[in-house]
Amino acid sequence: MIEIENLHVAVAGKKILDGLTLKVEDGQVAAIMGPNGSGKSTLSYVVAGRADYEVLDGSIRLDGVDILEKSPAERAAMGLFLVFQYPLEIPGVATMTFLKAALNAQRKARGEAELPTIEFMKQVRAAAAKLNISQDMLKRPVNVGFSGGEKKRMEILQMALLEPRFSILDEMDSGLDIDALKTCAEGVNALRGDGRSFLVITHYQRLLNFIPPDVVHVMSRGKIVKSGGPELALALEASGYAEYAEGAAA
Ligand SMILES: Nc1ncnc2c1ncn2[C@@H]1O[C@H](COP(=O)(O)OP(=O)(O)OP(=O)(O)O)[C@@H](O)[C@H]1O
Ligand SMILES: [Mg+2]
Repeated sequence: MIEIENLHVAVAGKKILDGLTLKVEDGQVAAIMGPNGSGKSTLSYVVAGRADYEVLDGSIRLDGVDILEKSPAERAAMGLFLVFQYPLEIPGVATMTFLKAALNAQRKARGEAELPTIEFMKQVRAAAAKLNISQDMLKRPVNVGFSGGEKKRMEILQMALLEPRFSILDEMDSGLDIDALKTCAEGVNALRGDGRSFLVITHYQRLLNFIPPDVVHVMSRGKIVKSGGPELALALEASGYAEYAEGAAA
């Protein structure tokens, strides 16, 4: 379970998160929707442990352990995974090498032995085929020259291999064509259950049709201003955020 309490965060001297409180239970899929600039990506970066974000107050606990003092690598070892809104290119690092290092680090953290190369290749090929990722892409440096949709599929491939306990998907749907959206959603849904939880950040109900959430949270001006069931996303699609922006200003 991840519990975020009264989180206040500033970036470059500007307050972005303003008393955000949010809990995602084991096995739950929680969606976060909210206007551009409300702080959704900032939240995902702070949870993942990116530098340059000044936590002014509050706590983030994963299974009861405060993670704010932990490095991004330690957080990943605890089972945290972030699908970036804008995945990074890593020139000079072959995708296969990267995936193998990531998977073995995760296995080590779980007290499991390294996978033999043949078994690793088998797993990657099977997961890549499901996501329509070509062998050629796997030979290229990570994300370098990949199209927007190819980068997103590569993120989901990493997630499928690492089987994280807690995943944040930041606008996984942006840049994906309809077929890729379905295959990526299937990748997410295949991991559901077994106590794994997901925070799905999106602007559109379309993604939630494929990944039905258990709960929906609305974020505005750096905090959660409303929570409800899947019907909340449908209501937002019809009415937009005007009501919440005003509420947050009051
Ligand atoms: N390094 C930075 N310096 C200054 N302002 C920043 C910085 N990083 C983020 N911000 C600001 O913080 C606010 C929140 O940004 P964030 O990317 O978290 O929004 P978001 O909710 O993810 O928006 P979107 O829906 O457009 O992805 C924005 O106003 C943004 O300009
Ligand atoms: Mg964002």
